[in-house]
Amino acid sequence: MRKPFLAGNWKMYKTLAEAKALVAELRASLDKDPVSREVLVAPPFTALASVAEALRGSGIHVAGQTMHSEKEGAFTGEIAPAQLKDAGASHVLLGHSERRQLFGETDEGVGKKARAAFDNGLVPITCIGETLAERESDQMFAVLERQLERALRQLSPEEAAIAVVAYEPVWAIGTGKVATPAQAQEVHAFIRKQVAKSHGEGVAAAQRILYGGSVKPDNIDGLMSESDIDGALVGGACLKAESFLRIVRFN
Ligand code: PGA
Repeated sequence: MRKPFLAGNWKMYKTLAEAKALVAELRASLDKDPVSREVLVAPPFTALASVAEALRGSGIHVAGQTMHSEKEGAFTGEIAPAQLKDAGASHVLLGHSERRQLFGETDEGVGKKARAAFDNGLVPITCIGETLAERESDQMFAVLERQLERALRQLSPEEAAIAVVAYEPVWAIGTGKVATPAQAQEVHAFIRKQVAKSHGEGVAAAQRILYGGSVKPDNIDGLMSESDIDGALVGGACLKAESFLRIVRFN
């Protein structure tokens, strides 16, 4: 019942010309040989409107990589939810570990942004994940429980069922050290159990939980064979059409 969801986070890569070339390739492939899966790209802000324009009518979603929670104001360098929507985004990544670790994002702030996303017609894809130190000191489940609770607490059951959660162990991001399918499945099942407790069984059964962290063409099939892994949030391997398309077309 949960449609697979494959998302590419471009991070701080791609000029406008490179962005257009990449989405042209993605679109050509998926127009020719469509998949019944949700596909999303999260380009940098500078390419967002052009990418959305190039993908109009393709079914491929476009997301911002972060946003501010306020409607508008004197926040130099920030982007408002309505501005993302206006540029053609339907989704927004929230609380990516790089945002948390390098730019001081907090659990509370991420929860506020999830609320603001729905208030502006955007679907949040909220990232949670433990560091290696937290995993090795048996704090993993407590950390994930706290991050998840803050991320979803301001959402109604209907919203939580639509919201997407991405489990991204910090030690797996950009390191080439992918979680094993069994490690990821264990956490995804835990997340779903927590969602059932906070928002009900129906919401937990509907919510898509993505895995992220060194997802590549050669490990996606194993990850997607696990029952609670509903898709992937892909960094490095989404920057080339060929590898992202192989991930989108997982077996
Ligand atoms: P990676 O990044 O696939 O390059 O590890 C994943 C992410 O940061 O979302």
